[in-house]
Formats: sequence, structure tokens, C-alpha cells
Amino acid sequence: MDIISIEDMDKSFIESIFDRADYLEKRLKNHEPVKSLEGYVVATLFFEPSTRTKLSFQAAACRAGAAYIDFISEKSSLKKGESLKDTLRTVEQYCDCIVLRHRYEGAARFAAEVCDAPIINGGDGANQHPTQALLDLYTIKKMKHGIKNKVVQLYGDLKNARTMHSLLYGLALFGADIILTSPAGLEMDQRLVKEIEQTFDIEIEQRTFIDFSNTDVLYMCRIQKERFSDPLQASLVTTEFRLTPDLLRNASSDMIILHPLPKIDEVDPAVDDDPRAKYFDQVANGIPIRMALLETVLGVVE
Ligand code: NCD
Repeated sequence: MDIISIEDMDKSFIESIFDRADYLEKRLKNHEPVKSLEGYVVATLFFEPSTRTKLSFQAAACRAGAAYIDFISEKSSLKKGESLKDTLRTVEQYCDCIVLRHRYEGAARFAAEVCDAPIINGGDGANQHPTQALLDLYTIKKMKHGIKNKVVQLYGDLKNARTMHSLLYGLALFGADIILTSPAGLEMDQRLVKEIEQTFDIEIEQRTFIDFSNTDVLYMCRIQKERFSDPLQASLVTTEFRLTPDLLRNASSDMIILHPLPKIDEVDPAVDDDPRAKYFDQVANGIPIRMALLETVLGVVE
């Protein structure tokens, strides 16, 4: 089994991952070792920068008793001209599962076609980041006691952020009320919005103004400047896009602020001290979710 796009998953699959993550999280909290992946080797193949996704997959592997092997693309035979296909077919001989991040949209789907080993998409260009979306949905479900009918506002570079693309679908699947707010020119792809509205028979509100009142979850992301063709354009947007304590004044006291991280200049550091800022708790949820995902793709449950 591969994890390529959230659009390949149904609700019952996602709920089974959440249930298993709940169980694993309790085990970890009670310092009860999990050995479900003993003897397995997970490879993390990241061709784009990563802190959380790579380290949390490696930590998740370790926490479940597996080992991991890692790869530095700049120091690999790709530098000598080896193809991605040959690299993938080599690495799968060394491991039981590959977590792949690549700047090309569709890279994970391609890897799943050329490899027998299960592939987990750790982000393919601006396209999809399904495991991030699962941990985001899990965080919302736990912190807001459900997802259905919760008002979730996605705010940031909705055009280029793969986290937003995956999460939008997941929120619609679970019946959230969705508001999209972005700086001008960085709106969500309108075809994707229409497709999701039709599939789930919902209306997605799209805004150009900032208003965080009547919002249960504010989900931000940074400007994805590496995906801009004009870096100047990116820096112009970046200077006018910033979450400050002032903008949060009329937001509800029990709203939560999530962010996949890294945050750069778009969140005023003073917001970190706001009790509504939950992004580091969100980070922690990456471990049980990714343990459950590794177990699932490897077909192993303790
Ligand atoms: C995100 C990514 O790589 O898409 N980071 C992550 O995996 N937590 C978000 C980003 O880079 O903005």
C-alpha cells in the first residue's frame, strides 16, 4: 500500500489511522515501548529541505522499533547523473518502505509505479502533503472535539502550499465549514475549489479581507517563496502578510492557531505566547500519526 494523496483515502481509513494513533500516543505517554515495526527498515529520501516531516518519520520508525536509513541528495549518485528511477529502485533493495519528498508534482505517484516497496509521499512540489493533512485533521479533531461543522479558516499562500491543498480536501471530507483567505494573487486554485464543492456538495467561502472572528481554527502557512518564478514578487507579498496580536483581538478565546511550520515572518513572535497558538502541540501529533501510517503501509499491527 502507498500513501500518495489524501484524495485516495476515505473517512473510515483516516479514522482507523486516528484510532491507532490514539492508542500509540497513550502507549508512548505511559513509556510502554512499541515493537510493532521491529526488524523493519524505513528509508527517508528527501530531495527538498525538511525538518519536521523527515525527523518525525525517523522518530516514528524508532519509536515503533524500526530502523531508518537516510539520504543526502546532494551527496548521492544523482550528482553523477543517476536517474530518480534508478535511485528509487536501488533504495528499495535496502528497506521496506520509502518516505519520499521531491519538488516535482507527481514524484510520489511515479515512485509508487516503479517500486514494489510502499511509498509514502512526504510532499511533492506544490501538489500534496497527505501525512501533514492527517496530523492536522487529528489535531483539530482532538483539540476541538471533532471536525464536522467547525469553522476552519485557511490563511496564507493557498496557491502554492501543498499542506493547504491536502488539508482542504480532508476538511471537506469531514464536513468542516471552510473559509479561504489569502494575499492577492495567492488564492487557492479555483478548479480545485469547484471540484471539492461539487464532490462534497458544500460552499467554500473565499475572502480577500482579514477577519478571524467566528473561527474555530485558524490554519496559517508561510509564503512558499521557492515556488515563485519571481523572487521579488514573493518578497513583496511577504512584507504585507503577517499575523500580529492585534489581528487576533476579535478572535474567539477558544480559537486555535495551527501552522505546519516552518514559520518565517508571517507570524509575529509575540503570537507564540498567545495560549491559542498550538503549532508545537500540532508538531507532537506527527509521531503517533506517522507511526500508525508506517504500520499500515507495512501491513503490521501489534
Ligand atoms: C511544509 C511543507 O514542507 O510543505 N512543512 C512541513 O512539512 N511541516 C510547510 C512549508 O514548507 O511551508
